[in-house]
Amino acid sequence: MMKAAVHYQYGSSDVIKIREVEKPVPGKDEVLVRVRSATVNRTDCAMLTAKPFFMRLQTGLIKPGKIISGTDFAGGVEAAGENVSMFKAGDRIFGFDDNGLSSHAEYLTISEKNAVAKIPGEFSFEEAAASIEGAHYAYNFLNKVDLKSGQKVLVNGASGAIGSAALQLLKYYGADVTAVCDGKNTGLVISLGADKVIDYEKENFTHTDEKFDFVFDTVGKSTFGKCKRILKSGGVYISSELGPYAQNPFLTLFTKVFGNKKVKFPLPLNRLRSVLFIRKLLEDGLFRPVIDRKYDLDETGEAFRYVLKGQKTGNVVLSV
Ligand SMILES: NC(=O)c1ccc[n+]([C@@H]2O[C@H](COP(=O)([O-])OP(=O)(O)OC[C@H]3O[C@@H](n4cnc5c(N)ncnc54)[C@H](OP(=O)(O)O)[C@@H]3O)[C@@H](O)[C@H]2O)c1
Repeated sequence: MMKAAVHYQYGSSDVIKIREVEKPVPGKDEVLVRVRSATVNRTDCAMLTAKPFFMRLQTGLIKPGKIISGTDFAGGVEAAGENVSMFKAGDRIFGFDDNGLSSHAEYLTISEKNAVAKIPGEFSFEEAAASIEGAHYAYNFLNKVDLKSGQKVLVNGASGAIGSAALQLLKYYGADVTAVCDGKNTGLVISLGADKVIDYEKENFTHTDEKFDFVFDTVGKSTFGKCKRILKSGGVYISSELGPYAQNPFLTLFTKVFGNKKVKFPLPLNRLRSVLFIRKLLEDGLFRPVIDRKYDLDETGEAFRYVLKGQKTGNVVLSV
């Protein structure tokens, strides 16, 4: 048996309970991992609350298909199935699956064909776990555009998990970045490389006179309609949310044909590519995850309560 954070129904953080459940047994292509760290992130929140509603197509129509929460992890391989060739007992690995990995638990199993890799160098389990989810989505923003060094990019929500990763990746590609965040996070975003900061409490970024090649709204608080005027001709708008009336996927199709300012909607399907890319950046010292609060597995409900507020700074880590 093992300890895990479980939820038998969709709902708020109140439905999360800590229970003893069956310890998983690895299949032939799988490794058994002793989880040491995981994050409580916005993907976990979407799976807990089943919001937006279409999430239920993925997570279970009436009730959750996977009762243990968690989509990412860092930990040690305890045992490997007979067909596993890439990992062995004792390896330190980290991984991600936005369909759910049941990682808020002492143990999990994962196929070596999934998005999983060895943790580089001396990175701690906490740092490794905090490096994946936000950076995966951020990388999939950047993949959608033809970004050239020196181009101007505005990142709204630069203090969040996706935003703080996007900011660092954009600097890696040589972009000139304007970061939008709360004034209290100005120091943080400058330390991550922001060239200019807009405090969203004091200034509406959509009213600025500057023009950008790309606007990345990593917290989905704006719309294409409002951001159009700050985009250069040929500029691209990407949001992490569907937008009002799920407009962003439709605008992606519409602006492909009409107008000279485009909307793109990222479908981040290639998780392994993201994990390997992040691993390389960590190895080369070009990326560091921002960690906000840390909780114990027993406090998973508390951690969800905090993350669901939508005001974390970077990543919230669970120690298992
Ligand atoms: N459906 C899914 O599976 C899924 C998965 C991942 C992400 N997402 C979406 O992607 C978005 C970002 O995810 P995330 O993990 O990066 O979020 P996050 O870490 O929870 O973002 C929180 C950060 O956003 C900032 N923020 C809040 N309101 C803001 C505003 N009006 N303008 C600028 N910044 C603001 C907060 O700063 P303050 O402290 O100033 O409030 C905080 O630092 C979320 O909307 C999430 O729903 C969806």
